[in-house]
Parts: sequence; C-alpha cells; structure tokens
Amino acid sequence: MQNELTRRNFLHAVSMLAAGSLIGQPVFDFGLDRKLRIVMVGTGIRGTGFWGKRLVENFSDKLEFVGLCDNNPGRLEYAQSYMGVHCPLFTDFTKMISDTRPDLIIVTTKDSLHHEFIIKGLEMGCDVLTEKPLTIDEVKCQAILDAERKSDKKLIVGFNYRWSPYMTKIKQLLSENAIGKVTSVDFHWYLNTYHGASYFRRWHGLRQEGGSLWVHKATHHFDLLNWWLDSDPAEVFAYGALEHYGSNGPFRGENCRQCPHKNNCSYHWDITKDKHLYKLYTEHEHHDGYVRDNCLFRHEINIYDKMSAQIKYANDTIVNYSLTTYSPFEGWRIAFNGTEGRLEAWLDIPYHENADLEQAALHAAEMNQGTAEMDYKPMIVHKLWNKHETMMVGFERSGHGGGDKRLHERIFQDTSAPDPYKHFAGVRDGAMSILIGIAARKSISSGAPVRIASLTDLQPRPKRI
Ligand SMILES: NC(=O)c1ccc[n+]([C@@H]2O[C@H](COP(=O)([O-])OP(=O)(O)OC[C@H]3O[C@@H](n4cnc5c(N)ncnc54)[C@H](O)[C@@H]3O)[C@@H](O)[C@H]2O)c1
Repeated sequence: MQNELTRRNFLHAVSMLAAGSLIGQPVFDFGLDRKLRIVMVGTGIRGTGFWGKRLVENFSDKLEFVGLCDNNPGRLEYAQSYMGVHCPLFTDFTKMISDTRPDLIIVTTKDSLHHEFIIKGLEMGCDVLTEKPLTIDEVKCQAILDAERKSDKKLIVGFNYRWSPYMTKIKQLLSENAIGKVTSVDFHWYLNTYHGASYFRRWHGLRQEGGSLWVHKATHHFDLLNWWLDSDPAEVFAYGALEHYGSNGPFRGENCRQCPHKNNCSYHWDITKDKHLYKLYTEHEHHDGYVRDNCLFRHEINIYDKMSAQIKYANDTIVNYSLTTYSPFEGWRIAFNGTEGRLEAWLDIPYHENADLEQAALHAAEMNQGTAEMDYKPMIVHKLWNKHETMMVGFERSGHGGGDKRLHERIFQDTSAPDPYKHFAGVRDGAMSILIGIAARKSISSGAPVRIASLTDLQPRPKRI
C-alpha cells in the first residue's frame, strides 16, 4: 500500500512538473492479484474484434469485461454476444464508469469522440488505452494533454504497427547506427482500391469525424517516423486534394445495397455477403443512421484522397511523405539516407516480388486477427563505398504485420518484459503523430509551412524522451 502510494505520488509529481515537457513512461503496470476489470466504449469492428473477442479468447485468465458502452443499443447487444461476454451494457459512459469502477477503459469510438472518453476516464480515476489517432485536432489534443498531466493515471495509444517484427528491425538498425546519422527519408504509402476506398464509405470520409486521412491513417506512419528517427517533428509543408472520390464520381446512390449503378460501379461492395458486418452495422442502422456501405461518391465527403508533405524534424532530418488512396496495389516503401549509407525497406510492392498479389485477399488477410505464418521479406543496408547487403526480415500477414498480437501480449501477458526499443506509446507520442497531420491540413489551407510548436504547448525536441 505504502509502495503504491509512493509510486502514485511520484507519477503525479513527475506529470505535474512536466507541464509541456517530461511525461511519464507510458507502460501499464497493473500489479493486481485479481483479474483486470476492463470496460470498452465504442463496440464497432475494431472494438469487438481486436480489443474484444481476441482479448476474451486469449486472456480471460487475466482480465474480464465488466461493461460495454455504445450509443447504438442494437450494436451493443450484438457486440456482447459476438465477444462472448455477459457484462452489463450501457449507452451512458459516465454511468458505466460509476457503476463498474473499472481498472482500464478501452476507447474504440470514432476518432472525433476519443478526447471525451479519454478525459472523462482519466478524471474518474481509470487508466485509459485509446485506439489511434489520439484525437483529430489541436484543441482537443491540448485538452487531453492537460487532463493527462492532472491525472496520476496512465494513457496509452495503441500504436500496433510499431510492434511488427519488420518495423522493429528498422528501429533496431537505425538505433545501432547502421547507416550513421539519418539525414533524409522518402516514405510512400499506397492504399489499394479496396482498403483505400473503404475509408470513403464511412465517417472517415468526413474531416470533422476522422480528421482526414492525414490524421486517421497517417498517424500510424507519422508515429513510425517519429519513433524510428527518435526525434520530434518541427515543421510541415503539404499539398493535398480530393480528385477521385466524393463529388468526382460519375454517379452516386443511396448506399451500395440499393444502388441503381451497382452493375457499372467498380467500387460496388455487397455488405449482405459479410454476415458479421451485416449484423454489426446494417441491422442497427435504424438506431443511429450509421450506414456502413455508404456511397463513396457522396457529395458530403470532404477529405483528401491524395496527400504529400515535407516534414522537417527537430534534429534536422527532412522527410518526403505521400499517401495514395486508390492504388492498384497496397504496399509501402521507405528509404533512409544517412551519413554512412542508405537503408531501404518495403512491403507488398508486387513488381519487386515478381508476384501477382491478389488485392482483395490481401485486404481480407490484413483485417484478419487470426494467426499467420511468419514470412521473410527483404530489407537492404547499403553502406557508402560498399556493396549492398540484403537481409531477410520476419513479417506476418495478419493483424498489421504481426504488430497486433505482440501489442496484446506485451500489455496483458509479458507485462514486465524489457522494452529496449521503447515500443510503448504514450500521450506525447500520440500527440506528436497527429500534430504532423494537423499541421499538414493547415498548411494546405494556408499555403504556408506550419510549425508544430504553434499547435499545442508541446515543444519539439531533437531527441525524444
Ligand atoms: N490501430 C489500428 O490499426 C486500427 C484499426 C481499425 C480501427 N482503429 C481505430 O479504432 C476506432 C474504431 O474504429 P472502427 O473501425 O471500429 O469504427 P466503427 O465505426 O466500426 O466503430 C465505432 C463505434 O463507436 C460508436 N459510437 C459512435 N458514437 C458514440 C458515442 N457517442 N458513444 C459511444 N459510442 C459511440 C459507434 O456506434 C460504433 O460502434 C477508430 O478510432 C479507429 O481509428 C484502429
């Protein structure tokens, strides 16, 4: 008890001292001699699957769900049966926390609401684990930073990509100075016409809900960059446009199910063929009007579908980044130029693999939370004045390159395992990754570069803490 109080006082003192700078290490240490009491808010596909059914199936000896909350009562009931739990259901978040007194809140609502539940959860004395992105704009971000500093509880952002073995290898090589000091980076991510299009069907297509793909999607990529470079972003300049989806489409319909153009729309997607998605969303549309198979050519879409940015880091590294949302294939490539050489990494570029990757199947495999065989993919280190060396690095097809399951194991199973590459992401990491996207949005509007320091009271550091 004395130890616990001392630990709490210490954490509190550290976070108060922080006021914009130092923030405690983001690692949960539940230290309980009973099962962890968990609640979840937002019982959609990510909540019920990755944070729901998967936790129940793999960690029920260590944790129990004591409450589920969603504003859609129909989805909530389906979520309960799908996850195989018997806990009480709530449409009122505050009542759920008061009634159940959980140890941990998992936030998996749409992005625009994360801040409400994070802040309320910390204020009510709970640890919080939120899905990415931390939030969607700088005002909400500052409110979260303030709430975290006032609280002696922990906030973790579920950055799963960091945990994939392939991404970890890049971190390891850069940490070991395999190419000297990194001076510039080319990073390009290609979403295919299945995965990329899927964002335009849902709330993600509205910038007021998902912050645009600069935030909703690129937060993953910016977090990886910040983590790999071990530095904070300092300034961003960007271009972007909506030229393919939204009003650019040749026709539009009410939704895919009832669309008169289904026979001549390449993007037509039949949700009635997916029993789980139909039961999760379509059967409960009448409660909240959330249409999962919305038309991706509807006029209200107001996000970008092509994006390109230059990012200057506080340690002077410069990055060229782009995101494409209607590529014929899904994959990515990165190249780091350093004072002593170059590191090249890529996944799923079909022309490099001399293979015809079936794009719909790739998307389905990536969404799958099951287990996948470890595969090995190339990565190249090319030292100046030397021949290049190709190494084969572990990679898994399911669950974000194998990151999903490693994140779970580290949080709920191997809680005291060492974390030499600082895989855990806290509020500062969550903030720095979205601030790049927020700065990019502002840069597109103003036509000028945007300083990260102008957005919140976080000051970029050449070397991260
Ligand atoms: N880390 C990853 O790789 C990854 C992958 C997918 C999704 N996500 C994140 O997970 C979150 C959920 O995504 P999703 O695809 O499951 O979305 P979703 O639309 O399927 O689920 C969101 C849920 O929030 C609920 N909700 C909306 N308003 C609410 C309110 N006021 N109170 C309570 N619940 C409310 C909706 O009814 C819905 O059930 C998002 O933040 C997304 O960015 C992360």
